[in-house]
Amino acid sequence: MAKYETRLWKKIPKKRIHRLHEGDIVCSDALDFLHGLRDKIADIIFLDPPFNLGKRYGASSRSSDRKREDDYLSYMTLVLQRCVEVLREGGALYLYHIPRWAIKFGEILQRELKFRHWIAISMKNGFVRPKHLYPAHYALLYFTKGRPAVFTRPKIAPLTCRHCGEYVRDYGGYKKFIRNGINLEDICDDISPVRHKKYKSRISNELPATIPQRALQISQRKRGLVVDPFAGSGTTLLAARQLGMKFAACDCELEYYRLMIRRLSCDSSEERSTKRKKHGQTIRNR
Ligand SMILES: C[S@@+](CC[C@H](N)C(=O)[O-])C[C@H]1O[C@@H](n2cnc3c(N)ncnc32)[C@H](O)[C@@H]1O
Repeated sequence: MAKYETRLWKKIPKKRIHRLHEGDIVCSDALDFLHGLRDKIADIIFLDPPFNLGKRYGASSRSSDRKREDDYLSYMTLVLQRCVEVLREGGALYLYHIPRWAIKFGEILQRELKFRHWIAISMKNGFVRPKHLYPAHYALLYFTKGRPAVFTRPKIAPLTCRHCGEYVRDYGGYKKFIRNGINLEDICDDISPVRHKKYKSRISNELPATIPQRALQISQRKRGLVVDPFAGSGTTLLAARQLGMKFAACDCELEYYRLMIRRLSCDSSEERSTKRKKHGQTIRNR
C-alpha cells in the first residue's frame, strides 16, 4: 500500500475505487466502506442516507429503499456507531433526514457525541399525511465529538423580495450591520430543492449544494478530511473541494459512482492542475 492509502485505509475496499487529487470514491456498501477506513481520521462526516421511503436509486428497486423499520434502524445504527469511531476528536457529524428518523438517530448519536444543533431546513416538497401537519422541513443534525475543534459561524445574504428587492424581514435600525451578511440561524428558509433539469446531476434526491456547503463551512479545516458514505451525485465532495478539504466517499450504485467521477473530473479545478496527473485513476475495478 502507498503511504497515502495507509493513512486513509485500514483495509482498502476490494470493490471499485477511483482516486482523485483530494481523495477516493468507492462503489460499495456504506458500512463496508466505513469499516475499511481508519479510526479517528474524519474531520467531518456528512450523512444523507436513503430515507427508507421507497425511492428508486440507480439499478436498485424501490423495495430496497423500503426495508422493515427494524432492519432500517439496525443498519443505520451500525452506520452511526461506525461513524463515531471514524470521527476524530473535535470532529463534526452532520445527518440530514426527515424529523421522524432524525429524532431516533439523534438519540443514538448523543450517547457518544455532543449535540450542537437541530437545523431545520425548510423544504416544501412533502406530501400531507392524514391527521398530520404539512411537513415543511428536514432536519440537519449537527453533533461533535467532544468540544468542536473548529466552529465558524457562516454569514449568509439576507432574504430579499424578488419583485421589489427589499429585505423580507424588518431589521429595524440594524440594516447597516447586515451589509456583510447575517449570522446563519438554526432555521434555514432560503434553500430550494434542486428541481430544474438545468441544475440537476441526477434524476432525484440531489441535495441542494448550499446544505453541505454550510455544514462544511461551520466545521472546515484546511486539508481536513470529509467522509460521505452515501454520496450520491457527489455534492458534498464539490463543497469539500471548494474549501480545500480532502474527501473519502461512497455510493453502492455504480451509476452514481460513475456520475461522481464524471462530475468531479469535469469540475475545472481538477483539470487545471498539472501536478495532479497521477490522480484521476481507477485503482481497483472488480
Ligand atoms: C439521499 S441520496 C444521497 C444524495 C446525495 N447527497 C447527493 O447530493 O446527490 C442516498 C444515496 O445513498 C445510496 N445508498 C443507498 N443505500 C446505500 C448503501 N447501503 N451503501 C451505500 N450507498 C447507499 C443511494 O444510491 C443514494 O445515492
